[in-house]
Amino acid sequence: MKFLHNLTITDYQDATIHPDDRGYYFGDGIYEVFRIYNGRLFQEDAHLVRLARSAAELRIPLPYGLPEITGLMYKLLEEDPVEEGILYLQITRGAAPRGHAFPPEGTQPVLTAYCKPLPRNRDKITGGIRIVSVPDIRWLRCDIKTLNLLGNVLAKQEAVERGADEAVLHRSGTVTECSSSNIMMVKDGTLWTHPADNLILPGITRQVVLEQARTVGIPVQEAVFSLEELYSADEVLITGTTTEVTPVILIDETPIAGGQPGPITRQLQREYQTLFM
Ligand code: PDD
Repeated sequence: MKFLHNLTITDYQDATIHPDDRGYYFGDGIYEVFRIYNGRLFQEDAHLVRLARSAAELRIPLPYGLPEITGLMYKLLEEDPVEEGILYLQITRGAAPRGHAFPPEGTQPVLTAYCKPLPRNRDKITGGIRIVSVPDIRWLRCDIKTLNLLGNVLAKQEAVERGADEAVLHRSGTVTECSSSNIMMVKDGTLWTHPADNLILPGITRQVVLEQARTVGIPVQEAVFSLEELYSADEVLITGTTTEVTPVILIDETPIAGGQPGPITRQLQREYQTLFM
């Protein structure tokens, strides 16, 4: 396994990170998870656009231009080939003595990345998952893909402890997204999902699935819905880089679509898989 640290690629076990890195002190950084299919990055342009937006919103200067970052990622993949996996990339505001305000101008942001094999979760993608509802206690800029993920971490841990695969988050009963994926429901043939505002991460998979749904004539509503509406949905699915389109068959104690993946979910899965299979 290899490790990219700014412009240098080393063996993973030789990686060194400064103890004053603001990623450690404050979670002061951003990240992206890219899927690798057939040895190539999937949807890399969309991920890089989102990376640049996250950086701009947090006023973290990008250390390199996007074409240069793409080049670095492919160099990493060339030195550490992965057929089916992920590339994790993060950029922190850099290393400086601890202080909440931004570090002195000229502090070098720290870009790190690595690739690792990660097989598609074929069992869950086929058979579906169980999720549990958890209050959404995160901050009000969930649209930024920051390293600060404590609300997500606590929610996922609660899901694990309750024997579920994922946590669906709600603000006073309004469904937002999941701890590391977006959520959609099908009701009377229409696909519903939370609008891409400050309360959710605008998922790349979400965007692709919504576009494909519109193309094949499935009506789409980017509008809020409640946990009660989710319980009584015809179908529920989550979307994400690693989860792709995964059916939800149980929410808390309520079976969805009779505890089986539904037909529109299956159709969306087939459409999505045409992009890399
Ligand atoms: N998670 N919402 C949240 C909170 C997420 O963390 C993610 C992705 C998504 C889906 O976004 P995308 O389709 O762009 O992957 C939605 C990544 C995979 C992670 O943190 O590991």
